[in-house]
Amino acid sequence: MNDSTSKQDNTPQTWSGRFNEPVSALVERYTASISFDQRLAEYDIQGSLAHAQMLAEQNIISHQDLLDIQRGLQQIREEIRNHRFTWSQQLEDVHLNIEKRLTALVGDAGKRLHTGRSRNDQVATDIRLFLRAAIDEIINLIKAMQQALLNLAEQHVHTVMPGFTHLQVAQPVSFGHHLMAYFEMLKRDIERLADCRKRVNQLPLGAAALAGTSYPIKREQVAQLLNFEGVCQNSLDAVSDRDFAIEFSACAALVMTHLSRLSEEFILWMNPSFGFIQLADRFCTGSSIMPQKKNPDVPELVRGKTGRVNGHLVALLTLMKAQPLAYNKDNQEDKEPLFDTVDTLADTLRIYADMLGGVRVNHDRMRQAAMRGYATATDLADYLVKKGIPFRDAHEIVAQAVQYAERKGCDLSALELSELQTFSTQIEADIFAVLTLEGSMQSRNHTGGTAPEQVQAAIEQARKWLA
Ligand code: ARG
Repeated sequence: MNDSTSKQDNTPQTWSGRFNEPVSALVERYTASISFDQRLAEYDIQGSLAHAQMLAEQNIISHQDLLDIQRGLQQIREEIRNHRFTWSQQLEDVHLNIEKRLTALVGDAGKRLHTGRSRNDQVATDIRLFLRAAIDEIINLIKAMQQALLNLAEQHVHTVMPGFTHLQVAQPVSFGHHLMAYFEMLKRDIERLADCRKRVNQLPLGAAALAGTSYPIKREQVAQLLNFEGVCQNSLDAVSDRDFAIEFSACAALVMTHLSRLSEEFILWMNPSFGFIQLADRFCTGSSIMPQKKNPDVPELVRGKTGRVNGHLVALLTLMKAQPLAYNKDNQEDKEPLFDTVDTLADTLRIYADMLGGVRVNHDRMRQAAMRGYATATDLADYLVKKGIPFRDAHEIVAQAVQYAERKGCDLSALELSELQTFSTQIEADIFAVLTLEGSMQSRNHTGGTAPEQVQAAIEQARKWLA
């Protein structure tokens, strides 16, 4: 900062006293961040208010200065909220725009606000405040989506569908059980975000430019005023650390990855060859040329936008990887990926909670698909094992029975008892209970299994967890 006050008032840049020529128009545009960091204004003001209060209580500025700063910042806050604030690219970023306006409004007190502070610790504080609020909102949005998942799962505790491995029919599961797998993923996502929040929620202010400040500041007080859990313990790290943003982006990429997997399933299930579900029309569009089409645009876009969020994670990692300590201007590039990650994820979650409410299930198609794929073959093998046949032998016997049924073009349960007995004399009439889809589901009756009572219990536990 320039301390030659007369010169400072006439020059556009607060730091320009040291320079002999102004930056070119292109450089001004290239280096400015105001077009996107004005989004941090509310947090910048919060941070400044807390900093000023501490400065006054430590007698670093006068009580009158504090009152002036508070009055000025309050007015600026109103101006910004009412879109009456004039942002200037010449003033580079949100911090300098606000400070300049403050000085215009309250004079010297405005110029004293920056005592013991640098934009380096200021911007780090702003991003952390922004991200803390964003995490809280995203956790709430994930919970709303989980609620929608639970409501849908509850209706389908008994609805049979084929469970897949390698996208080939494997074993029958309930649609409710399948949906609850996503509840688990989202639960882990919330836990991850909550853990990340602890590291976001540390105060950088006081680190000043990089080495700390010679004023008798009280960082703990500022932390308390801003509801931070603690203060960053090393001034160099405080101004240069963006781990918290990278960590958040990694969490966000995982949430998107989960939503992308579900989207992929919705897309498959909507294909008439599956015909398992229909989405409400408001999430689909038609084709301009093929009148029969109903395209799952929203799930497709979720899948697509996952690429974009993953890209932001890589961008942030790359931004950081070769930076020497401490602050470097590279870090200005952290904001756009971070903001876009928050916005993309929040919108995706909002849309998903709504979309889940409009899922219509075609029970018959799910059932038929499970029937067609010998989904109970494992149950036949397990039946033989329970009669004393070693599992590997049972596996072989069932493989032959499946081949036979395939040649006949029917399901295992459609074979006569006498036909089944040609593969093993151990097979008796009670086999038919085992070969039904419901019998198969029912038998997987342990924590985490697909038996209806287990799925019901999982749903109830999930509701408790959410409450
Ligand atoms: N606009 C800058 C950023 O986003 C603020 C910090 C600038 N600090 C500096 N020493 N130029 O990182």
